[in-house]
Amino acid sequence: MDALDRLIADFDAALRAVAGVHRAARASPAEAVAEGELSPAEREHAAALMRVNHVGEVCAQALYQGQALTARDPALSGSLEQAAREEEDHLAWSAERVRELGGRLSLLNPLWYGGSLALGLAAGLLGDRWNLAFLAETERQVEQHLEGHLAQLAPDDDRTRRIVEQMRDEEAGHRKTALALGAEELPAPVKDLMRLASKVMTTVAYRL
Ligand SMILES: [Fe+2]
Ligand SMILES: [Fe+2]
Repeated sequence: MDALDRLIADFDAALRAVAGVHRAARASPAEAVAEGELSPAEREHAAALMRVNHVGEVCAQALYQGQALTARDPALSGSLEQAAREEEDHLAWSAERVRELGGRLSLLNPLWYGGSLALGLAAGLLGDRWNLAFLAETERQVEQHLEGHLAQLAPDDDRTRRIVEQMRDEEAGHRKTALALGAEELPAPVKDLMRLASKVMTTVAYRL
């Protein structure tokens, strides 16, 4: 693929991520699970949580694309390919669940995408080990975040729960992959800053 093809492919992926029209390669973990009896408030809360998760996956798309664009070692992107593919499924599953619950996707997706791409590119410019460090820490925070969401879902909402559990398990795998590839440990203040940024994102995306 030459540089122009690559740019067009990235732009296409970005548009699909932002618009929530990506198709999953694997069936949603919710597929075999019956819809539970949810009150309108439970349904609304679950839709908002899944909107937040979908935004997280939009950011993951941007991060993995930024990583691929800046990687010094060409073998690195290949090693992260499976993780990137799983993120595409997460994107599609969470978008589908938001719609099933009667919610809508974040209006600010272009902003989330752009912000994450900028951060991913900036981390990439510092070199592969920091690029991977940023990826690993992001995955760790997403994993914790999904764990928190599991505790908030209605007892009967097994359909949402199955998706969130599978995403959490796979994010843990992505973190391990980044660490195995040589991720640095980020300095504590950077981790704190990332936690703050994610707090802002999740608070806003819950509503918008
Ligand atoms: Fe994900
Ligand atoms: Fe991930």
